[in-house]
Amino acid sequence: MKWQKLKKLALVGAAALLTISFGLAGCGKKYSAADQSVQRIKDKKTLVVGTSADFAPMEFPITQNGKTKYVGFDMMLANKIAKDMGVKVKVVNIAFPSLISELKNNKVDVVLAGMTYTPSRAKAVAFSKPYHNDKDKGTNNVLLIKKSNLNKYTTKASLKGKSVGAQQGSNQEALVKSKLKDSKLVVESSNNAMATEVKNGTIQAMMCNGDTAKGYVHKYPNTYALAKVKIYTPAKYTADRVIVRKNDKALLKEVNKVIDQQKKSGNLTKMYNKAIQLQHKYGK
Ligand code: ARG
Repeated sequence: MKWQKLKKLALVGAAALLTISFGLAGCGKKYSAADQSVQRIKDKKTLVVGTSADFAPMEFPITQNGKTKYVGFDMMLANKIAKDMGVKVKVVNIAFPSLISELKNNKVDVVLAGMTYTPSRAKAVAFSKPYHNDKDKGTNNVLLIKKSNLNKYTTKASLKGKSVGAQQGSNQEALVKSKLKDSKLVVESSNNAMATEVKNGTIQAMMCNGDTAKGYVHKYPNTYALAKVKIYTPAKYTADRVIVRKNDKALLKEVNKVIDQQKKSGNLTKMYNKAIQLQHKYGK
């Protein structure tokens, strides 16, 4: 064998050994050498959380000492996940339709935005276990309308030809498409802007998560009301989950572990109730 070839073989052998030992070193830890998703977060001492803070009680902004702070149920859970990893949280507020692409572009580590499983999202990202399911399963999406129209829009048929808003890329958009086929779907990137359009009469209704809609009614009881027409949401679309990149398996495991812990201790329910209180306190 030629010297050159021998040298090459030795190099390949050394590389293989290194790979094996790295793999072994990773065994005892929570992450493998190949998947640095948890270690990366620990190294930068920060969990960067992407959300769309227009979805109380899950996430909404409040102002404290002139500074904007993002609070809500998802933010409480994000804090628990970060605490478990021994790092702090940085929240990045992103328009809802861009959340998944920003995650894929490594702009954030995780997305907590009251997001439910959909087959098309599952092709792009990985979902955690569910951490929240509305009590009133199946009817957790409602139509927010103007109070003065309460007796006008009482059935799906009464919304025929009317403009119904939904957040772009959300389940609510899919619901309008499938349940209100005769209405005109208007997609918007922000829930808050859409609620204003309902008030102004630019659109007649907005498909909205129940607790978010109740927040608008709570804040402006003379302006808004929940339409009497019931929209049925299929069960698989009602459970909220954390989203991570598909390759970040160690991080997904970590997130699921914290969800399990918080569920078991009863803290998930406590945090949700606290978030509703905050939502009402700050009028979101
Ligand atoms: N649950 C709905 C979905 O997954 C809406 C989520 C909206 N979230 C938000 N932060 N605006 O599509």
